[in-house]
Amino acid sequence: MSLTPVLSRYWDEPKSWTLETYLRHGGYEGMSAAFAMDPDAVIQTVKDAGLRGRGGAGFPTGLKWSFIPQGDDKPHYLVVNADESEPGTCKDIPLMMATPHALVEGIIIAAYAIRAKQAFIYVRGEVVPVLRRLQAAAAEAREAGYLGKNIRGSGFDLELVVHAGAGAYICGEETALLDSLEGRRGQPRLRPPFPAVEGLYASPTVVNNVESIASVPSILRNGIDWFRSMGTEKSPGFTLYSLSGHVQKPGQYEAPLGITLRELLVYAGGVRPGHELKFWTPGGSSTPILTGEHLDVPLDYEGVSAAGSMLGTKALQIFDDTTCVVRAVLRWSEFYAHESCGKCTPCREGTFWLVQILRRLEQGDGTEEDLEKLLDISDNILGRAFCALGDGAVSPIVSSIQQFRDEYLEHFRIGGCPFDPYLSTFMAGAQA
Ligand SMILES: Cc1cc2nc3c(=O)[nH]c(=O)nc-3n(C[C@H](O)[C@H](O)[C@H](O)COP(=O)(O)O)c2cc1C
Ligand code: SF4
Repeated sequence: MSLTPVLSRYWDEPKSWTLETYLRHGGYEGMSAAFAMDPDAVIQTVKDAGLRGRGGAGFPTGLKWSFIPQGDDKPHYLVVNADESEPGTCKDIPLMMATPHALVEGIIIAAYAIRAKQAFIYVRGEVVPVLRRLQAAAAEAREAGYLGKNIRGSGFDLELVVHAGAGAYICGEETALLDSLEGRRGQPRLRPPFPAVEGLYASPTVVNNVESIASVPSILRNGIDWFRSMGTEKSPGFTLYSLSGHVQKPGQYEAPLGITLRELLVYAGGVRPGHELKFWTPGGSSTPILTGEHLDVPLDYEGVSAAGSMLGTKALQIFDDTTCVVRAVLRWSEFYAHESCGKCTPCREGTFWLVQILRRLEQGDGTEEDLEKLLDISDNILGRAFCALGDGAVSPIVSSIQQFRDEYLEHFRIGGCPFDPYLSTFMAGAQA
């Protein structure tokens, strides 16, 4: 399967982020096409194209827009989720750095479709260069009449606020994001009501990922058939796959949904020379790990789910045979324990104890009983936590025990990490 650069087509051009470059590549033509249509027809177009949310769950974007009540006399809001903090996920930030106008144009189209006059981009606060680039793009768009009153003579008004978060993974969860945007501590809200009914300031709100929104202009510009000519029937279109870790050429690879890791590895120059693929995540650390057996799994929502994992954010973290799986899982678990917002007991207490046990296991001080305890605690978090952070936290633990139980056992058999160079030298000496 060949690569299909759409969003990333001219990322390597000098000053790819300017309005001038964007216009040279057909920028804002999708917006003009949308303005020539009724807002409901725009929603129908995105529905018919089959675009699915790129923030992790793959929820159909047009369907989400259609949930916004009409004629309700309430303000409607569009909020772009640019928090991107999932370990391994690194697509929205390069997209916003390289082509911020693709996002701004997508925002105009989406806001027009759901009849919102106010949009927000909630960007992770630590990434100051991205924040500045978005602010510059919004100012440039406003100056050229693409934002503000009566956009390019269409009669449609839209204001855009670029908001910097304070750097918490949980603020990527859409309802915690809304609380944070309202100035409160970012913690998930109870649903229902869903954001489409009571979102920002208790008004109908659409929350979409950066890549979802940035993909919309190309659909309006090139049409439904063009979009559907890529990908699979249930997961149509192109998407950004982020390859990181032990590959020769890490980076963004834009390809049709349904490409396999085997094919992507050819573009990425393969695993480091002299080493073999050991395990990988299909969509960030919250998705169950896969192994070399899964190289030919189609990387679309259905294919990855049939293989027992999730496509998630398409963050393919590649680990070769030099990696200790227990150590990798411990590092992820430390992240989840640190980022747990503390609102619910299974996740707040559970993630803490998972880390304590994993530390013991990694140092070779654990017992087989500890493995059962890990699974038991995970079972008490999965499906019982208030939000999906809890479920995500146990994914690497449960899947690694399923796939690499022997490696866990080896740690307490030898009283340390088999990948520790000093310990392996010592063991080799002892055996001789
Ligand atoms: C802990 C947690 C963190 C999340 N972080 C992000 C994020 O950084 N960006 C994002 O788009 N979605 C994130 N999500 C998913 C959002 O809640 C939401 O589903 C998504 O923004 C919807 O956009 P989409 O329909 O365009 O995919 C996160 C979810 C959870 C549970
Ligand atoms: S699952 Fe974790 S992050 Fe989510 S609400 Fe509960 S404590 Fe907070």
